[in-house]
Amino acid sequence: MKPKLFITRQLPGKAIDRLKEYYDVEVWPQYPPPPRDVLLSKARKVDALATLLTDKIDCKLISNAPRLRIIAQYAVGYDNIDVVCATKYGVYVTNTPGVLTETVADHTWALILAISRRILESDEYVRKGEWYRSGTGWHPMMMLGYDVHGKTLGIIGLGRIGSAVARRAKGFNMKILYYDHRRKPELEKELGAEYVPLETLLREADIVSLHVPLTKETYHMIGEKELKLMKKTAFLINTARGAVVDTNALVKALKEGWIAGAALDVHEQEPLPPNHPLYELKNVILTPHTGSASWETRIKMANMVAENLIAFAKGEIPPNLVNKEVVNIRKPGFK
Ligand code: GLV
Ligand code: GLV
Repeated sequence: MKPKLFITRQLPGKAIDRLKEYYDVEVWPQYPPPPRDVLLSKARKVDALATLLTDKIDCKLISNAPRLRIIAQYAVGYDNIDVVCATKYGVYVTNTPGVLTETVADHTWALILAISRRILESDEYVRKGEWYRSGTGWHPMMMLGYDVHGKTLGIIGLGRIGSAVARRAKGFNMKILYYDHRRKPELEKELGAEYVPLETLLREADIVSLHVPLTKETYHMIGEKELKLMKKTAFLINTARGAVVDTNALVKALKEGWIAGAALDVHEQEPLPPNHPLYELKNVILTPHTGSASWETRIKMANMVAENLIAFAKGEIPPNLVNKEVVNIRKPGFK
């Protein structure tokens, strides 16, 4: 009998077909995630799970899943999974690093340019007929934004994605500052990036872009105090995790003009609920956590999930194992 695998959403490409050679596969067919009770009951019966960041994989779920041996996350971030608990129960956790790096950096840059040059506001202005009603085809003061080229980019978290964002900034002739909990001298030369304390970065950057994972240390690392340090003409870009920013503080900052604007791909609550104060603000761009959402990358991520699960089924250590210590607790495989 093949081990049982529950995949919490349909994935693009052929990864699921590949997995069927090794697993008895069930895919959650709906667009929204499986409800909590469904997820718990599936977890109790399967040997493997393929999960998304919207699936809460806590210790309650893991400790009540006696057959579960591997959780293959379809994302680079895995803050939805209690990894410490998984390790304790000998459950392997894998993710999909690397393949989405450049794609998220592209999205970050789309946001940087769009917010600085008011692209979405301009589109609305044209589309809604306001341009026509303005009675002029061109005006010296129409839709003025801020330059991106030649400015200072502040990268918080110089990991794979932060570095890819910095690399793109070279083409815009920008000065690059970064802050990270660990200094990265090896990258400083390659990227032309200068390490500075967080306060300095916030004070000097024209664009502050977040690229840290969500952890206890990074939760609300951008709050009132940090937003007040930023320039009035600066923009905040978040393609990392919503909870890295204190959203209430950000709304206040945007309303009261402490900063010029924000472009947010990630949110403290996803999907962002109706009537959220962010919807009222013109100086904000919102995307629905689609930083890695290109066909190419989402197919690669699915293949990576498949490779991790297939390696495990063959008794091998999966290539993208997150909790490496787990090998001391249980060997890979279902034997
Ligand atoms: C998406 O946010 C991811 O972590 O891959
Ligand atoms: C994620 O891939 C990162 O290290 O930034």
